[in-house]
Parts: sequence; structure tokens; C-alpha cells
Amino acid sequence: MLDSKTHKAGIIGWPVGHSISPVMHAYWLKEHSLSGAYDALPVKPGGLPKMLELLAEQQYAGVNVTIPHKQSILPFLDEVDPSAAAVGAVNTLVRKNKKWLGMNTDIYGFSKSLTEAVDVKKIQRVMVLGAGGAAGAVVKSLQELGFTHITISNRTREKAEELASHAGAKVVDWENKDTALERINLLVNTTSRGMKGEGGLDINLNMLPSQAVVADIVYNPLVTPLLQQAQEKGHLTVDGLGMLMHQGAAAFAAWFGITPKVDDKLRAFLQETL
Ligand code: ATR
Repeated sequence: MLDSKTHKAGIIGWPVGHSISPVMHAYWLKEHSLSGAYDALPVKPGGLPKMLELLAEQQYAGVNVTIPHKQSILPFLDEVDPSAAAVGAVNTLVRKNKKWLGMNTDIYGFSKSLTEAVDVKKIQRVMVLGAGGAAGAVVKSLQELGFTHITISNRTREKAEELASHAGAKVVDWENKDTALERINLLVNTTSRGMKGEGGLDINLNMLPSQAVVADIVYNPLVTPLLQQAQEKGHLTVDGLGMLMHQGAAAFAAWFGITPKVDDKLRAFLQETL
């Protein structure tokens, strides 16, 4: 039996056509026999205030937020949870008591994906590649997991320095990242390199210790050139689909009060749509 309430959510971004969140949330709505929809809502830069008004009028429970709005939406929100505020970016809005609340479920999504795949107690030193919005969430998540030895390397060094200064992390020049891999136990790519349609990361993993784990937050393709290189060298790898599923599940729970399952069946379903 369908619930009498309409469960409305979606994703705002520009562009949004590439997102697989609509497919994932539609799967969960159906699985829980909830009436409603998760819409892909293209919003140009500058279109945020109008869209927030419209979403409130149409009684959306909330939306996900993607590129290029994750940071620029902050001034339009009534409240931002402390972790999202610390990162300076939100990926989820919840409409509650006529207010817009901002959250960042990417932080939880990355932690959950990592801790499911890896015994984090065995990891001491982490290197994060990239210093954009996604890197902020990943670094926050690493801090919340208790990591104290974090190194950040980014093509634009100033951005790495800015992120590192908030996180008490070190910075390595982009040109020196290959040699800095010596003694690293976990390498995480948060840059857009390796995404479908883009070239792979220019990196050589020869110095990376053999027991080190390599994670990528890119999920399309599932095996990025970085993960391919890591697998060829025998490293344990963590792909980006785990983070995507867990951040989505946390958003769904915040909107609808039901935590959907993240399991192999969902993974297989999403892999088919990629
Ligand atoms: P997101 O929110 O997905 O993190 P972003 O904030 O635009 O997006 O960040 C993109 C990241 O990918 C940045 O770290 C960027 O490096 P710069 O700060 O130097 O721009 C990185 N990136 C994008 N293209 C890259 C390339 N060709 N080589 C190396 N890094 C790249």
C-alpha cells in the first residue's frame, strides 16, 4: 500500500543530467512503497533563491545540492549543521519547520564507505589528492575518524595550503606527490581526474607501500585509471560508489525518516545504470 503522503525530493545543480541520484532514490522510494518522486532540477548559477522558494511552495522534503552550488547556497540557508559549516559546503538541504537546513552527508558517506572496506586502525598516514569541495568533505571525514597524519597535494598549491591550515594537515607539491607516497597507508583521489570524459591522474604508485589502500571518489567509471594502476600493483582499492550510496542513504533518512539499505543488490543495480 502506498503511503498517503507525497515524498518529494530532488537534486539541484548545473548540469544535473549526469547524476545517478534520481535512479538511486527512485529505487529506495519504490523499495519502501513510498509515493513521491526524486527530481533532477537544473538550476543555473543565480537561480538559487527562486528555486528555494519554489521547492518550499511545492512542499519538497529537501534536495541534494551539487556542482556549482555546494558553497554558494550557504547564504540562503536558515541553519547549517556544524560539520557542513566547518567544511563550508553542503550537499543536502532539509525543509523543517519552514526553514532550510544544510547538511553535508558526503562526510558520513566517505567514512562509511571507507570503514566498510578497510580496518582503519591499521592506517596511520593518509594522502589526499585535490583541495576542492569534495576534498574538504573527505578531509573532515578523515579527521572525524581520528587520523592525525594527513598530507594534501593539489595542482594549485594555495588551495591545498588553505585546506591544510583548517585541518592541521601537511602540504606536498603536486610535482612531488609520487615520491611523497613512501610510508603512506591510504591514498584518496578527490580530484575530477579519471572521471568519464576526462584524462586520468598523472601519478606513479611505485613508491606506495604494498599494503596501502587506494580510494577514489569518482564512481563513473567504477575502476578509474588510478584504481586500475593500484589493482595491477596488488593494492586494496575502494571505489566511489560506496560514498555515493551512503551519502544518498543519509539524505533519504533526513527527508523521509527511513534509512534505506545500502547493499550488493543496490550496488549491482547502480552499476548497470553507469
Ligand atoms: P569538487 O567539488 O568535485 O571537489 P572542485 O571544487 O572544482 O570540485 O575541485 C576540483 C579538484 O580537482 C581541484 O582540486 C582541482 O585542482 P585545482 O585546485 O588545481 O583546480 C582538481 N583538478 C581538476 N582538474 C585537474 C587536473 N587536470 N589536474 C589535476 N587536478 C585537477
